[in-house]
Amino acid sequence: MPNSNTTRSIAILGATGSIGDSTTDIILANRDRFRVTTLVGHSNIEKLAERAIQLGAERAVVADEQQYQALRERLAGTPVDVAAGREAVIAAAAESADLVVCAMVGSPGIEPAMAAIQAGNTVALANKEALVCAGPVMMKLAADKGVRILPLDSEHSALFQVFEDKNHAQIEAITVTASGGPFRTWDKKRIRSATLTDALKHPNWTMGQKVTIDSATLANKGLEVIEAHHLFAIGPDAIKVVVHPQSIVHGMVHYTDGSVLAQLGMPDMRTPIAAALAWPNRYAAPQVDRLDLAMLGQLDFEPPDLDRFPMLGLAYDAMREGGAGPALFNAANEVAVKAFVDGRCAFHDIATIVAMTMDKALGDLSAASFTSLDDVLSADQHGQDLANAIVEDQLHRIGAPS
Ligand SMILES: NC(=O)c1ccc[n+]([C@@H]2O[C@H](COP(=O)([O-])OP(=O)(O)OC[C@H]3O[C@@H](n4cnc5c(N)ncnc54)[C@H](OP(=O)(O)O)[C@@H]3O)[C@@H](O)[C@H]2O)c1
Repeated sequence: MPNSNTTRSIAILGATGSIGDSTTDIILANRDRFRVTTLVGHSNIEKLAERAIQLGAERAVVADEQQYQALRERLAGTPVDVAAGREAVIAAAAESADLVVCAMVGSPGIEPAMAAIQAGNTVALANKEALVCAGPVMMKLAADKGVRILPLDSEHSALFQVFEDKNHAQIEAITVTASGGPFRTWDKKRIRSATLTDALKHPNWTMGQKVTIDSATLANKGLEVIEAHHLFAIGPDAIKVVVHPQSIVHGMVHYTDGSVLAQLGMPDMRTPIAAALAWPNRYAAPQVDRLDLAMLGQLDFEPPDLDRFPMLGLAYDAMREGGAGPALFNAANEVAVKAFVDGRCAFHDIATIVAMTMDKALGDLSAASFTSLDDVLSADQHGQDLANAIVEDQLHRIGAPS
């Protein structure tokens, strides 16, 4: 558990990304509360070096080994140690720290998150794909090691803040809200012709590319539902999604006495990040605009449309399947999103690729054991291989989208 009164040591995996930026803002606003141990990035060494100097980090690690020399040169003459490569990333996660912020994108974050937990470090988790894939394996390791996983995602942070552990049996349901993404009001035909530029125009949040596209398909909400299932030990039927275009109410817990506790705030990741970094205290996030409900005037809610956004339904199917199901869903989605970004498939093909992968893979893996990190990684690899083959096959048959 992080030390609540003195300076906290903190490592940031994914320090050069959007969550890395917001985390940096909170550390800078509370400078004397944190000692930054290690920053990890993948390819953006310029930003990694700048950030390491700005935050006074002890070490900077670049995942791409080829960038080692260039990072060393940028940090020459500074006290910052430099390391590179996948093993160095995993070692950085396992170094003793009060908090490890897991903010890498996608399944490459699985092993570092598991390494941080294995080492007994408290984890502040943004990298939802890691928990979605490793689900029961990660939660068991955290329980065995007595490690807290503090959610950074705004919806899970909201739930965490109003979730009464002692009254778990009196919780009827939880709700995660969804902005609805850029295509909330688009009809099915128009969604079919959505371009990458369209998909990257999120109405409320500024985020990395992959999570922005996931928000457009509602795969992000699906991943979040599975994440909530593991974090809060709530069954699939008790996890609801409501579309709330203003993104002011982030999550709600419904109790048996009819009370619904919600957390509200402006759509700014620095609020949930501050909540996790300060837990069980509160630190300031002075950069965040203050919520003024009278100014906003109106909050809207509507049910999600699974016909226009089939990825949400597929995520529920994967969650109900359990075991390797969510890892396969996630792997296929990562492959399909990359294919869309590379112009190798159309927006609406993302759901088709995921559905076909899950159909093919679940037969192979439903009886397979899913209790170890190796099981998680092989389900992820299997899902990626199948989805890649499906993308290739589709390209072969119908060609790339125009
Ligand atoms: N952004 C948000 O508002 C938000 C909100 C909730 C949850 N999340 C979740 O937080 C995670 C990060 O999202 P983001 O928006 O911050 O993404 P992002 O802006 O794309 O940043 C991704 C980070 O991961 C690093 N990275 C990528 N591949 C890596 C690898 N193989 N090894 C080590 N580092 C690697 C990147 O390094 P380089 O840039 O140096 O290549 C970058 O630092 C995602 O799981 C996302 O779903 C994000």
